[in-house]
Amino acid sequence: MSNQKGRILVTGGTGYIGSHTVVELQNAGYSVVIIDNLSNSNADVIDGIERITGIRPDFVEADCTDFDALKKLFADYPDIKGIINFAASKAVGESMTKPILYYRNNLNTLLNLLDLMGENDVKGIVFSSSCTVYGEPDVNPVTEKSPIKKATSPYGNTKQISEEIITDAIYAGAPYKSVILRYFNPVGAHPSAEIGELPNGVPQNLIPYVTQAAIGIRKELSVFGNDYNTRDGSCIRDYINVVDLAKAHVVAVERMLEDKSEEKIEIFNLGTGDGVSVLELLESFERATGVKVPRKIVGRRAGDIEKVWADPTYANEVLGWKAETPIDDTMRSAWAWQCRLRERGIM
Ligand code: NAD
Ligand code: WQD
Repeated sequence: MSNQKGRILVTGGTGYIGSHTVVELQNAGYSVVIIDNLSNSNADVIDGIERITGIRPDFVEADCTDFDALKKLFADYPDIKGIINFAASKAVGESMTKPILYYRNNLNTLLNLLDLMGENDVKGIVFSSSCTVYGEPDVNPVTEKSPIKKATSPYGNTKQISEEIITDAIYAGAPYKSVILRYFNPVGAHPSAEIGELPNGVPQNLIPYVTQAAIGIRKELSVFGNDYNTRDGSCIRDYINVVDLAKAHVVAVERMLEDKSEEKIEIFNLGTGDGVSVLELLESFERATGVKVPRKIVGRRAGDIEKVWADPTYANEVLGWKAETPIDDTMRSAWAWQCRLRERGIM
């Protein structure tokens, strides 16, 4: 089905941020085709998207590093106007032990898409970048002009290189635009609890670990360090609600397709502007849900950033987008999702 606003190709669209974005795209009147190889997600997510929106997005199970499969997809869907590229391997720790896999997957995916966009009259690509490009900032909050620090992991390096690839292609005259979105820490789930984050194995990120400890899958959360130079000694991050984040992608797509971009390539920080410590986040979770999180304080995790949060002014003013969901509501959504997984016997 082709909706009135045209078709968007969402790579990695059955993943965590991708699935929430497909919901918002469909709610805004776009039709969507998802490509995902299901390496870190499940096709059942499509049912969740359909239950929320009443529309089933088209789904192609294929690998974006497979040029011929992508070429066929563009031949089958000649009406693709824009791309949102979520497909990537994203585990920082794993990238240290499997760097080639990370470079191959994340970079070949992007290169294939850029090659085929040019040939298929696609107007623009939204790219998922990360606050990881800022490393440990000298000054907080970070703006888009803050220095890019040398990447401390192959994963982080793929984001820096990807930004450079897109920039070079566009400066060389590529016939498309791009919006690069640097996410801070995406958390929470859709308020319907139909879709959410589904980590593989032991969660490495804070919120899935918190909800799994709260429901009893994990004995206790290890709080990595209480001796940082912060107000309570724990690390500070900018936790952004995943639905708020998804909505920014719709604005970015509209900007590219409706020729509103000021430059052929634009970069935005997507965060709330509030730095929240690990201990404050736990307080929020317990306040919002009434559920205690068993925990112990342990030593620092190697490679952790002490504090980083966004200055989202540029996105607020230029995109007209703002993160709106209070952190307690976000924590409630994460918990509702964990409880839904339990009801379904998944976790
Ligand atoms: P995710 O793992 O849930 O989603 C990524 C999806 O891409 C998965 O469904 C996976 O199966 C798919 N995929 C991976 N490689 C593929 C390939 N070669 N071909 C087809 N499909 C492929 O991750 P997410 O949290 O939704 O992240 C989405 C994007 O946002 C990623 O690019 C990630 O690096 C970036 N990002 C995530 C975070 C975060 O904390 N979640 C923060 C900043 C940036
Ligand atoms: C958040 C805070 C931990 C787990 C990672 C990537 C980054 C970006 C976002 C993609 C930190 C603390 C965590 C636990 C804890 N991803 N923590 N106990 O480290 O900010 O960033 O995800 O681009 O590139 O590095 O996120 O959720 O792992 O940690 O105390 O069991 O929670 O020390 O302070 P992080 P996180």
